[in-house]
Amino acid sequence: MELSHKINKLRTGEAWESLLDSYYRWRRPLNPTEMVRILEAKGLEQIRSKYANPEDKKGWPKYVDADHRLELAVKQARSLRLDRRRSLRILDLGSGPGYFLFVCKQLGHQVMGLDLDWPPMYAELFEMMEMPRCLWRIEPFQSLPDLGGRFDFLTAFAVCFNAHGSDHVWGPKEWEYFLDDLEKNILSESGEIYFELNPEPWGYHTPELREFFRQRAAHVEGKRVSFKPRQSVPPATPSRKRPG
Ligand SMILES: C[S@@+](CC[C@H](N)C(=O)[O-])C[C@H]1O[C@@H](n2cnc3c(N)ncnc32)[C@H](O)[C@@H]1O
Repeated sequence: MELSHKINKLRTGEAWESLLDSYYRWRRPLNPTEMVRILEAKGLEQIRSKYANPEDKKGWPKYVDADHRLELAVKQARSLRLDRRRSLRILDLGSGPGYFLFVCKQLGHQVMGLDLDWPPMYAELFEMMEMPRCLWRIEPFQSLPDLGGRFDFLTAFAVCFNAHGSDHVWGPKEWEYFLDDLEKNILSESGEIYFELNPEPWGYHTPELREFFRQRAAHVEGKRVSFKPRQSVPPATPSRKRPG
């Protein structure tokens, strides 16, 4: 590494951050192979053989590959620095097979998923991992249900609930309603949000949506959109719908 690059890393604090990353990798080891073994002892192989479909490399059957998915999930949890936080209440929207939450659980966090009631493989995986999941379809201009408490960290990877891939993908109005609801009713006072969007034909977001996120003080970097804790929280709205 060039001297100037090293000096720059020291100047920006990058060197300190990478030292901390190494420290936490040592302090909080997360071994995907070990996790697969734990899941195999709980019946992963039955789920694998029931749903594996080598013909379908893009659809949900790809999630039977727990080794690969847990490797990704460990990277996601580390990059969100969830390996160095006190026990948080984490809600993952569109939680799919649940590997990310399983890694969070190994780190001592309290987790909850939210997803559609299909495919049944997701329900079986959540049951095997002993994690709670709320069955709910996120719809534009509709509040989320009462989830039995507030959450410190809200995540959503490969977001599809924004009508991804359709001709009515969410714009600023839909996102505004959704984010307001999260802030008023779902997040704790120090709650944070992290999304990873899916690409649309025009990219991850239109310039209009990017500007909207930025006006709400989001950090936007490609598919990644994150919101740090808010300064103040408006009072919770009463009478919430119960999940079906
Ligand atoms: C591409 S998968 C991503 C799964 C997981 N987050 C991951 O990254 O591996 C999208 C997930 O969003 C869920 N989903 C799609 N539309 C939804 C909606 N309107 N409300 C709730 N979940 C939805 C799907 O069932 C699926 O689990």
